[in-house]
Amino acid sequence: MVKLNENYQKLQGSYLFSQIAKKVNAYAAQNPDRTIIRLGIGDVTRPLTHSVISALHSAVDEMADEKTFRGYAPDLGYDFLRHAVCENDYRARGCNIYEDEIFISDGAKPDSGNIQEIFDDDNVVGVCDPVYPVYVDSNVMAGRCGDFDEKTGRYDRIVYMPCTAENGFVPELPQKRCDIIYLCFPNNPTGAVIRKEELQKWVDHANANGSVIIFDAAYEAYIKDPGVPHSIYECSGARECAIELHSFSKNAGFTGLRLGYAVVPKDLVRDGVSLNSLWARRHATKYNGAPYIVQRAGEAVYSEAGKAEIRALVDYYMENAAVILSGLKKAGYTVSGGTDSPYIWLKTPDDMSSWKFFDQLLENAGVVGTPGVGFGACGEGYFRLTAFGSHENTAKAVERICAL
Ligand code: MLT
Repeated sequence: MVKLNENYQKLQGSYLFSQIAKKVNAYAAQNPDRTIIRLGIGDVTRPLTHSVISALHSAVDEMADEKTFRGYAPDLGYDFLRHAVCENDYRARGCNIYEDEIFISDGAKPDSGNIQEIFDDDNVVGVCDPVYPVYVDSNVMAGRCGDFDEKTGRYDRIVYMPCTAENGFVPELPQKRCDIIYLCFPNNPTGAVIRKEELQKWVDHANANGSVIIFDAAYEAYIKDPGVPHSIYECSGARECAIELHSFSKNAGFTGLRLGYAVVPKDLVRDGVSLNSLWARRHATKYNGAPYIVQRAGEAVYSEAGKAEIRALVDYYMENAAVILSGLKKAGYTVSGGTDSPYIWLKTPDDMSSWKFFDQLLENAGVVGTPGVGFGACGEGYFRLTAFGSHENTAKAVERICAL
C-alpha cells in the first residue's frame, strides 16, 4: 500500500490564510448585510498599471500570430526580463549580480517554499519569530523541523530568533548553529526594517559559519529610508552566502498574474558544488517558466513609465499605512512598522490573545486582520493590518477600530 509523507502530519492546522478565509466566509454567510473590510492577507487591490496592461495586450497579439507565437518559455526565464531585473534591481544599485544568476519564477511564495529542496534534510533551519509561515511549513514538509511542541507552539529542531518590541523586531544573531537562515526585510509580518550595518553582521556571521541566508526582499519597493538596504547584495560578502527572493506582487500588483525571481550567485558554493547550478537543474525539471505574456508584463514594470506607475502604486498604499498608523496611535494603540513597509503591527489591547482580538474585530467592526500568533509564538498579543486596501476602506476600517 502507498505510504504518505508523514511529515505532512506534523503541520499545524491549515495554512494561516486559509484558516482566516474560512472564518471570514462563515461570518459573511451569517451576516450577509455586513460590509467586511479585508486587511488580512497581503493581497493588493489596485488594478494593474497602464504600462503592464499595454504590454500584456501586445504580448497576447504576438501569441495570436504564427510569426511571433511562443511556446515553452526558457527554463530560467526570458533574457529580456533577466536583463531588465539585473540592470534595474542590481546594477543600478551598485550590486554585482549577473543575468545568469537570476531565475524567473511564478512568485516569491513558491520560491520561498521550494528553495529548501536543494539542501540536505539534516540542516538546521533558523527563522525569525514571528515569521511568514511558508518558510517553516515547507521545511516541516521536508522533515527538517522535528516535532511540534504544543506547550511552546514551536518545532523542536528549528532555531527561533525572537523579534520583540525590546529588539525593535530585528533579531539578534543566533546563539545556536543554523545552516539555513531565513530573513525577510522589510519584514512580514512586523513591518520592521534592518539597517545596512546590521544586515552586514548577518552576512559576516553566515560566511564565518558556512551557513546560507535566504533573504526575502518581496517588500523592498516600500523602503523610504536611505539607510535601509533594498538588497542583501548591498552588503559585502553576500554573493558567497545569500540567496535573494523577489516578487512582482507587492510592488506591481501581480498577485493574480504571478511573477517573481530568485537570485542565486555563482560564488555561492558549498561542498564544492555551486548552488546556482543546483537551482538551475531544479528549475529545468520542475518549472515550465512563467508565461511569455506575464514576463513581458514584468519587463514593462522597468520601463520609465512603468517605474513611475509603480512608485505611484506604492505611494498609494503607503498613504493607507500612514492613515492606519496615525489613527490607531491617536486611539491609544501601540503600533509599529508601516513606514518602510505595507504592514502595521499593533499590540492587542489589554494583552488580549491575538485570535480573540481577531474575532472581536470581525464581529464588532467587520474588519479582518491577521492574528500575530499565526506567525509564531512571539506574535501572540500582536495583530497585523495590511495597507493594501483602498483609501476609502482603510479610512472606514480605522474609524471602526477606533470606535470599538
Ligand atoms: C501575507 O499576507 O503574508 C502574504 O501576502 C502572503 C503571500 O504573499 O503569500
